[in-house]
Amino acid sequence: MRLAGRRVLVTGAASGIGLAIARLFQREGAGVAMLDRDEAALTKARVDGAPALVCDVADERQVRAAVAQGVSALGGLDGVVNSAGIDLMRPFEHMTAEEWARVMAVDLTGPMLVCHAALPALKQAGRGTIVNIASGAALRPLEQRTAYCAAKAGLVMFGKTLAVDLAADAPSYVASTSTVGALVFIMDSSMILSCFA
Ligand SMILES: NC(=O)c1ccc[n+]([C@@H]2O[C@H](COP(=O)([O-])OP(=O)(O)OC[C@H]3O[C@@H](n4cnc5c(N)ncnc54)[C@H](O)[C@@H]3O)[C@@H](O)[C@H]2O)c1
Repeated sequence: MRLAGRRVLVTGAASGIGLAIARLFQREGAGVAMLDRDEAALTKARVDGAPALVCDVADERQVRAAVAQGVSALGGLDGVVNSAGIDLMRPFEHMTAEEWARVMAVDLTGPMLVCHAALPALKQAGRGTIVNIASGAALRPLEQRTAYCAAKAGLVMFGKTLAVDLAADAPSYVASTSTVGALVFIMDSSMILSCFA
């Protein structure tokens, strides 16, 4: 029980990496609020007792309401994992401005909105932790992925800059996974656990 007593909000928690992290944290004794825009998948994935927050991370009003609900249900907040994300494979000349804007809104603005809404509670906890799930695509260009690569590169720099901004304050730890690849967290859970323990 390496996370007993910790309270963590995980976005994109209805499937994939977010769900694996939510389950791992619960097994380790943490209280976990599970946030996702896919209500049906969230209901199915929800682990017993976990607050389920239906929310589009790109929508500021929804994010503020969902984070407040999560903080209230958990009785505070010690950490956030931003895993919600979307991919887009599109040759650049066929990509629309709307498609570009949506990837930016979900993959880059979304984590910023969640961090912004969660920050007062993280500061109150005294030792908040933020982990942003980026991608190797942040550092290595992939074909037909201009929007995704740009958004994930932005997310890595957002995390680093936020860490500088908050260095003298809480949260204590801000990380953006990039080179290691997000999937490593499923195989090597000690990495993400060490951020929160
Ligand atoms: N799977 C990989 O190989 C891989 C590699 C590198 C990085 N990543 C990153 O890891 C994260 C999780 O990927 P995954 O493979 O688990 O994907 P996934 O599609 O299985 O899970 C993503 C979850 O995010 C949710 N989501 C999408 N848009 C949302 C929104 N606007 N608001 C709230 N929730 C939303 C989806 O409903 C889904 O449950 C993503 O940010 C992805 O870019 C994945």
